[in-house]
Amino acid sequence: PLRVLTGITTSGTPHLGNYVGAVRPTVRASRLPNTESFMFLADYHALIKTGDPARVQRSTLEIAATWIACGLDPEQVTFYRQSDIPEITELTWLLTCMTGKGLLNRAHAYKAMLDRNAAAGAEPDEGVTAGLFMYPVLMAADILLFNAQQVPVGRDQIQHIEMARDIASSFNHQYGEHFMLPEAAIEESVATLPGLDGRKMSKSYDNTIPLFVPREQLKKLIMGIVTDSRAPGEPKDTEGSALFQIYQAFATPEETAAFAQAYADGIAWGDAKQRLFERIDAEIAPMRATYDELMAHPERVEALLQAGAVKARAIATPFAARLRHAVGLRPLQ
Ligand code: TYM
Repeated sequence: PLRVLTGITTSGTPHLGNYVGAVRPTVRASRLPNTESFMFLADYHALIKTGDPARVQRSTLEIAATWIACGLDPEQVTFYRQSDIPEITELTWLLTCMTGKGLLNRAHAYKAMLDRNAAAGAEPDEGVTAGLFMYPVLMAADILLFNAQQVPVGRDQIQHIEMARDIASSFNHQYGEHFMLPEAAIEESVATLPGLDGRKMSKSYDNTIPLFVPREQLKKLIMGIVTDSRAPGEPKDTEGSALFQIYQAFATPEETAAFAQAYADGIAWGDAKQRLFERIDAEIAPMRATYDELMAHPERVEALLQAGAVKARAIATPFAARLRHAVGLRPLQ
């Protein structure tokens, strides 16, 4: 079977970008025949971004409840929390020793920090932890430990998956063919969902629309999406319109074509936003009820995660033993 795997960092509240870029495609893939799916909460990755334990715990519950509300079937898939699988950190070390430092120097997230520091006249590595630098290796371990072939993600993660391939190749070259080479699975139309201000929707830009907010709040947020100042009756450009791109991520091609026609016909921005709100709410409302229910019962979520960890370790433990042997370490036990 085809192995599909993806994770979400537990440092914030899941937003529409996470949903269209990762959650929805992975849940859909998990329902196809002959696939084995792995969805997890990347809480080790969260420590790179925040030092606030309460935030990590809150986000872990929110993201877990999101996965389940969005239709993940815990019986069919392997659904777990990264930090419940110690083999991931163990593999991270084996991979670290196979990773060129130069490869990590080229990582976008790290380079962005260097650029920011240069612009601010600070020391190059000011505020850069070794955790941030090593981020791609931890992510490679997530993927390679389960020999995932397909990784559904948004465009911002492509480089990390290419690095996982490079790291896997180096390991295979040195120690024999242990790892499959993973590939990013990206839906072009949703690869970079814009946020409220038109830039990529991202926690770090504070421009997100959370996936599960009450209906009225969702509407209010959508009404705040940036538009140009064209008046009702004036034709509108779909090109470069964040509103249009978000609509497209939720609509069928026919609905999108009709929306483009409404733009050409000079729909008022307020009406266009109302249509976007209704389209998103139609998809999300049924899930929102499940989400709210789960958020009120964290113990149910926790039980699923613990059962998932047992399933994940049934795969991870023997594979990690094989890898220890491959590199010349003594077996555990
Ligand atoms: P994270 O938590 O930043 O984002 C989770 C997923 O959501 C996607 N995404 C978007 N997609 C489209 N448009 C957007 N505006 C948008 N914003 C976020 C991301 O591309 C991602 O797929 N390092 C990862 C988590 C991770 C992981 C992994 C993923 C850890 N280990 C192994 C895959 C496989 C991250 O921080 O994603």
